[in-house]
Amino acid sequence: MTIRELTGDDLPFLREMLYAALDWRDRWWFPPRRLVLRHPQVVVFHRDWGRAGDAGFVAEEDGRAVGAVWWRLFTEEAHGEGFVDEETPELAIAVVADARGRGIGRALMEAMHEHGRRTGVARVSLSVEPENPAKRLYERLGYVDHEPGDGLGRMTLDLA
Ligand SMILES: CC(C)(COP(=O)(O)OP(=O)(O)OC[C@H]1O[C@@H](n2cnc3c(N)ncnc32)[C@H](O)[C@@H]1OP(=O)(O)O)[C@@H](O)C(=O)NCCC(=O)NCCS
Repeated sequence: MTIRELTGDDLPFLREMLYAALDWRDRWWFPPRRLVLRHPQVVVFHRDWGRAGDAGFVAEEDGRAVGAVWWRLFTEEAHGEGFVDEETPELAIAVVADARGRGIGRALMEAMHEHGRRTGVARVSLSVEPENPAKRLYERLGYVDHEPGDGLGRMTLDLA
């Protein structure tokens, strides 16, 4: 497995991974990708990719993209559920279903954190549903609940 920086050419894969992150339970009735990706709360994670502060990584196995992590800075006016403040990027991640549980997600997160430390990002946030097993991975990486009980599932990690 190799990890490389995400580029504008990866946008279709980023969208596929965004859908996978939202449909983490893999439910048969989940709305189709095209509708989900257009939803105002979802579109903010991929529209106009390449803005200042956008960054991400792709994991590949034998030339096949198997996972992606990325983050963006948001504003008070337009942001995702994991928004904390305008200086803290919000992270999203998914690994393709047949490659999960083999350390790819952890390696992607660590690449993102390392990038943050190199570029002076003090803190990262995300939003996760409490029953999502991904939460255990985040906790192992040092993420802590941000205002627990507010129903937003926000977690943050200090990088500084
Ligand atoms: C969460 C995710 C990115 C982790 O990537 P990964 O490569 O499976 O993770 P790793 O192998 O590095 O680490 C394993 C940990 O990931 C978590 N995990 C979440 N879903 C998992 C799955 N389907 N299979 C295995 N591990 C999973 C668990 O915490 C697991 O640790 P555990 O074995 O102690 O339970 C990946 O499982 C995934 O894409 N899940 C569906 C989408 C999603 O939930 N995205 C995050 C939304 S907030």
